Formats: sequence, C-alpha cells, structure tokens
Amino acid sequence: MKLLVIGSGGREHALAWRLLQSPRVKHVYVAPGNGGTAVMQGTSNVALSDPADLAAFVKNEGIALTVVGPEAPLAAGVVDVFRAQGLKIFGPTRAAAQLESSKDFAKAFMVRHQIPTAEYQTFTDPLAAHSYIEEKGAPIVIKADGLAAGKGVVVALTEKEAHEAVDAMLGDGSLGAAGARVVIEECLLGEEASFIILCDGKNILPLATSQDHKRLMDADQGPNTGGMGAYSPAPVVTSAIHQRIMREVIEPTIQGMEADGIPFTGFLYAGVMIGDGEDSTRPIKVLEFNCRMGDPETQPIMMRIRSDLLEVFEHGVSGTLDQASIDWDPRTALGVVMASANYPATPRLGDVITGIPLPQPDCVVFHAGTVLKDDETMTSGGRVLCVTALDDSVRSTQNRVYAVVDVINFDGAQFRRDIGWRALEPR
Ligand code: AMP
Ligand code: GLY
Repeated sequence: MKLLVIGSGGREHALAWRLLQSPRVKHVYVAPGNGGTAVMQGTSNVALSDPADLAAFVKNEGIALTVVGPEAPLAAGVVDVFRAQGLKIFGPTRAAAQLESSKDFAKAFMVRHQIPTAEYQTFTDPLAAHSYIEEKGAPIVIKADGLAAGKGVVVALTEKEAHEAVDAMLGDGSLGAAGARVVIEECLLGEEASFIILCDGKNILPLATSQDHKRLMDADQGPNTGGMGAYSPAPVVTSAIHQRIMREVIEPTIQGMEADGIPFTGFLYAGVMIGDGEDSTRPIKVLEFNCRMGDPETQPIMMRIRSDLLEVFEHGVSGTLDQASIDWDPRTALGVVMASANYPATPRLGDVITGIPLPQPDCVVFHAGTVLKDDETMTSGGRVLCVTALDDSVRSTQNRVYAVVDVINFDGAQFRRDIGWRALEPR
C-alpha cells in the first residue's frame, strides 16, 4: 500500500518512519519532504503543494490514504478538495481547522461551549486595544488572530510591551492579514502540557501525553519558538488530570463542533495550562487549539507507538475510531531540536551538517529544515533536526539523546541542554 504524508518537518519524517513499520505499507510519499525523507528507505519526496495537484498525484499513483502534518494545507482546504474527489485523507476540513486558523473563532467557540480558557476580548481598533490593556494591566497576552507561524503570540510582562505588540500587529501590519485582528487575553500561570487526540467526527482516541519547550534557551529563557524539544509522557498529566482534560476540554469540544455543524476529524491538539493545586481542583485552561499534531511532540510520541499506525488512520477515516486502540511503550521518549544560527528571528541557511548517525529502533534523528545537495545534507530552515530516543528513565533518555547531539555538527547550531527538566523535578 502507498501513502502520502503532507508536510516537510520533523513531525512528517516521524509519521512516515512509523507508518513504514506497518507490514502493509510499501511506500510513503512526503510532499514536499526534507533531506531525511529524501534518503530514508521506503520514502520519496514529491515537490507539490497545491491541494488540486496533490489530489491528482494521489489518483495517478493509486495512493490509499493521505495524512496531513501542518496547519497551512488544512486551512487552505486540502481535506475538502480530497473528499470532494472521494480520496481518503485524515485531517479536519477548512471550516473545522478554524479552531487553529482563527484565535477569535476558537475563543468564541470555547465561550459558547463553556470550555475553560483565559478571559479575553478581540480588537481591530488599536485605540480600543490600548485602553483594554490600560484597564487590565500587565502581564497580559496579545495574539494575532490568524496563522503567524509561531510568531503571533506576545506574552507581555509590562504594559509597554503590550502596547508595542498591539502597535506592531494592528498598527504597522507587520504580520499582514493574520494580525489585522488581535485577541488580548489574561496571562495564565502554571505548567503547560500538550494533549493530542484523534477524532473521526464522533469517537475520540487520545494519544500519549507530552510536553514541549517553547523558549529558545535553557531554563525557559529567550524568545518563543515553534518548540525546542519535547518528551512523552508528561508526568503533570496524572490519570486524574487526564480524565479532567477529556471531560472538561476534549469531549465538549468535539460535541460542540458537531452541534455547530462542523464535525471535527483529524488530530486535535489542546495546549493546556495546568494551574497549581490538588489534581481534583487545579485549574485547567485551554491556551490554544491546533488542528494537527505538534512538532516536536510528534517525534517522541511516534517512538512510543507499538501498534500498527496505519490501522489507526484507517479507523480514523472510516468513522470507526471506537474500535481502535494504541499500545504505548511505557518508556520515556525525548527529542531535542537542533536549530540553525539566528533561529527564530532570521535563520541562516546552507550550513553543511555532518555526523548524523544511522537510525536505530530506539534512537532516530528526524530531519526538519534540511536539504540534500550533491550528497551533502545542508540546513534549509530554522529547526533543522530532532534527535529522539527512547529509554527507561527521563535521565537515561536525555543521556542517550545528548550523546548523539554532541556528535552532530553544523555551524551555529543552537539547542537546549535541559529538555525534560520538569520531569526530573521532584513532584
Ligand atoms: P499559542 O500559539 O496560543 O499556543 O501561544 C504560544 C505560547 O504562548 C503558549 O504555548 C504559551 O507558552 C504562551 N501563551 C499563550 N497564551 C497564554 C496565556 N493566556 N497565558 C500565558 N501564556 C500564554
Ligand atoms: N510544538 C507546538 C506546536 O506544534 O504547535
């Protein structure tokens, strides 16, 4: 059987790698793919991005099923285009993808369906936005309404920073249409977790829990990024918290989307803030919804899946996820992102990468911003690699991952030394 994975990041490399372990999968095309999927046995890259072109490719090649990695093709309606032609694709429609593609849509949805989230207001008028900031004070969070590739959120610690963020988004149009509307919301405190589920419109299948590290530097310092490393499971999500997230966030979201006439199919990622307190009462609030898997969360999550992932997706597109289950490796998986010089502001491209070891069953270097040129692997994006391993404890997994990180070389490489630190702390 042939499959297609849409996207070019570490997430897509990891999805393709895991899918290839299904005995029925003969080949995985990745569109557009990266330097890793260009050379992995069983995958090849396809230089297409337009939904109609991708659908034509799938028909010509007889591809059985397509899985979408990133948000942009979903917001562009790739699922709608494929479905209209009777092609099997796992992901949300364009309308359902608004949970991610419009912060205002997501906030209004959560209020309408009593899903806990930070208090907020939406603005297009800069004067009104400025006076709201004066009324509420700092810290306060400013978010561009539309997709802004991880650059649309400013957690302002001072009112001055908040006013500047509003000016940058609503005033000078630095984020284009994505910033023409802003959501301003209460700053939440606590510990973040990534809670990702699969849904077929009705039935919900949760993935293992995970935690991302958004800041560039150790000890959560420096600017926000797309994510500098992740691990699974996340100890903050105890079984009591897991049940509460399902009951208070995930189930009302899926039911709310159905009630609103836009049933959700695909991956739903709730970024949640878990406040201080006892498990039964600590506040759980939604920071964001994504309508896809997380990157880099996918990389450790894929390492822990022991079941046949193809079967899970088949249930996902057939409306039978109630019959699916996933067998998880109980060990810890942890991935460390190696990013290029000057990431996240203006990543430098074209540095030669050396020292990437061959994959092993429990240690894989997933590629993201890489390209193969004349037999050399070069950097071609902000986040370059995600070194991911599976081992018995958080500490031993960290040791395995960093032993590999230390033999990989490219000029200006940036990475954190402390991925997984929260799981090492006494609780
Ligand atoms: P988002 O794109 O909405 O997930 O925001 C990116 C990151 O900004 C989140 O992962 C949080 O670290 C932070 N963030 C977003 N909203 C809030 C909030 N209301 N309070 C505190 N931090 C937030
Ligand atoms: N790692 C965060 C995200 O994928 O949105």
